[in-house]
Amino acid sequence: TGTITLDLGYKNTGATKSAITFLDGDKGILRYRGYSIEELAEKSNFLEVAHLLIFGELPNQQQYNKFSHDIKTHTLVHEDIKKILDGFPSTAHPMGVLASLFCSQTAFYPESLDPNRSAEGVYLSIVRSLAKMPTFAAWAYKNAVGHPVNYPDNKLDYCSRFLKMVFALPAEDFEVDPVIADALDKLLILHADHEQNCSTSTVRIVGSSKASIYSSISAGINALWGPLHGGANQEVIVMLENIKKDGGDTEKWINKAKDKNSGFRLMGFGHRVYKNFDPRAKIIKKAADDVLKKLGVNDPVLEIAQKLEEAALKDPYFVERKLYPNVDFYSGIIYRALGIPVDMFTVMFAMGRLPGWIAQWKEMRENKEPIGRPRQIYTGATLRPYTEITKR
Ligand code: CMC
Repeated sequence: TGTITLDLGYKNTGATKSAITFLDGDKGILRYRGYSIEELAEKSNFLEVAHLLIFGELPNQQQYNKFSHDIKTHTLVHEDIKKILDGFPSTAHPMGVLASLFCSQTAFYPESLDPNRSAEGVYLSIVRSLAKMPTFAAWAYKNAVGHPVNYPDNKLDYCSRFLKMVFALPAEDFEVDPVIADALDKLLILHADHEQNCSTSTVRIVGSSKASIYSSISAGINALWGPLHGGANQEVIVMLENIKKDGGDTEKWINKAKDKNSGFRLMGFGHRVYKNFDPRAKIIKKAADDVLKKLGVNDPVLEIAQKLEEAALKDPYFVERKLYPNVDFYSGIIYRALGIPVDMFTVMFAMGRLPGWIAQWKEMRENKEPIGRPRQIYTGATLRPYTEITKR
């Protein structure tokens, strides 16, 4: 009833109150529960940040030990998950596989479907989600390359465990490189939450119907997959590779991005909220430099990315529209240096974003938010009489 305000893409519509992430797009500020992203990326670790986002505070040592122990207890997935995995062709994109495996948890843990679940029950679902996500992600990769899956090695920390499941091959020794594990940990922190973006809003809106945590997050994984959202990290590398093949002519590609008829956008550029720089991109740019140096990797697309950024930041089209590199612009370069294949990039984003999705789902539930149900302005036909099929 009353007047409906149209706001395509919800550019100016707040859908919730949230105490999780603070973002000032004009100043380029991002904070999780009041802590600056710069400080967390430098000093914290991914599981601490997950605890912070989900439960509101950084854990003390005892809480941290319990949380990481609880997660380790649940890293194995049901053996029947392998049967589901077997049903996917090796051409299946790991994001589709990940979303399906994540949602399959509703079948293995049907108690999660109870909308009135106790706090202990919800905690168990949270811990299971964090514990099994790296296993699902690594198995989605193994399916794509046609290798046997690896089981989680609980002697290792969160990121090392994931890396071993991805890279270890049967009958070969495998040692996780700590430089790679640390770099991954930092990347996951930088992706851990970003207030009401497309996938997070999806998680909240699906959860608002009292759907289970697993189905809500599975929906978030699907939303993240799109090239305008998390899928951009894969598209950035595809774009940089194409520019390289094209002789490295960045000007030409900038002009293509400016031409609205080309259907091409500069991937990894622009953001709905950041109209200054994206603070995550700044940290990732520096990390890309550090990681490549530490690993002794010389990736020619890094140079192309730098050239492209420099040219775009000088170009009036990008300046006027306040288009800056976003989190996805340099992250793919790091993933590549870490040996992670291109179609796993968005899976890495999903692993990082998981604590944010959980925290937002939990907040929505605790705040007893009403079911999400946007309105519309109808533009279709007015009343028409039905015509029999023979007369149409
Ligand atoms: N290349 C060329 N032009 C662009 C770009 C770009 N990457 N991004 C925005 N524009 C132009 C757009 O054409 C429009 O121009 P005009 O005002 O003349 O019509 C203006 O800038 C505003 O863009 P918009 O599409 O109205 O802005 P939005 O807030 O709806 O979209 C965005 C934000 C991130 C979807 C968009 O900037 C984009 O498509 N970027 C490329 C994809 C990308 O990198 N996505 C990752 C986002 S950050 C991490 C994440 O969420 O996963």
